[in-house]
Amino acid sequence: PYTFNIIVAAGSGLRFGADLPKQFCMLDGRPVLFHTIEAFRKALPDGEILLVLSESHVDMWRDLCYRFDFVSPDIVCGGSSRWESVRNAVMTLHVENPESVITVHDGARPLVSSSVIHDAVMAACMPGVDGAVPAIAITDSVRMLDDDGSSMPLARQRLRAVQTPQAFPAGLLKEAYGLPFSPDFTDDASVMAAYGHENIILTEGSAENIKITHRGDLALAEFILDGRR
Ligand code: C5P
Repeated sequence: PYTFNIIVAAGSGLRFGADLPKQFCMLDGRPVLFHTIEAFRKALPDGEILLVLSESHVDMWRDLCYRFDFVSPDIVCGGSSRWESVRNAVMTLHVENPESVITVHDGARPLVSSSVIHDAVMAACMPGVDGAVPAIAITDSVRMLDDDGSSMPLARQRLRAVQTPQAFPAGLLKEAYGLPFSPDFTDDASVMAAYGHENIILTEGSAENIKITHRGDLALAEFILDGRR
């Protein structure tokens, strides 16, 4: 299928605790985002890529591209939430082929493999499916909090941690992003669910497809890359 691939990287990276948001930090000598973009170029050579950046980072990004002789994808300016950043990109897409797929991927997941990308894209194109998201089993036990501060255990074997790229039939995702914002929208499949598009297939994610969130994650990413060499 023809794919539009939205890479969201407009976050401020507050949890990361560095001056520079994580997506611009160096990983194996190059900015994290270069790895992310290259993973998509390798997996889907004919796909289109849209990069979502905060307006305040665009000059720095252009500078990095110049310094490293890297060709930037088209850029869209992000918003104050991940949802708003994705919506800005989705709204610029003109989808002519009804069989096109839109994928949305966190710029902060530079180690995504071609097989994780392909599995999600292919599953999203099956008839009657509303989308596909990579998922992995979780290793911690988990509890659900109630408003009064009490909590109860959940059955870990029935839970999955959800990653990106998340892939959707293009027309359906555009519709779902017409809804108003809700704080429950932590990913794109949750936006689809709010619209009633709930037939989301879980595909094989990967423990290596980490989202660089805290500072130690960058060291872990270096270690994973070392293991691939
Ligand atoms: O904050 P979180 O780790 O969930 O962000 C996931 C991805 O969404 C990151 O790649 C981040 O840059 C992006 N994001 C964005 N616009 C925002 C907030 C987050 O593009 N306002």
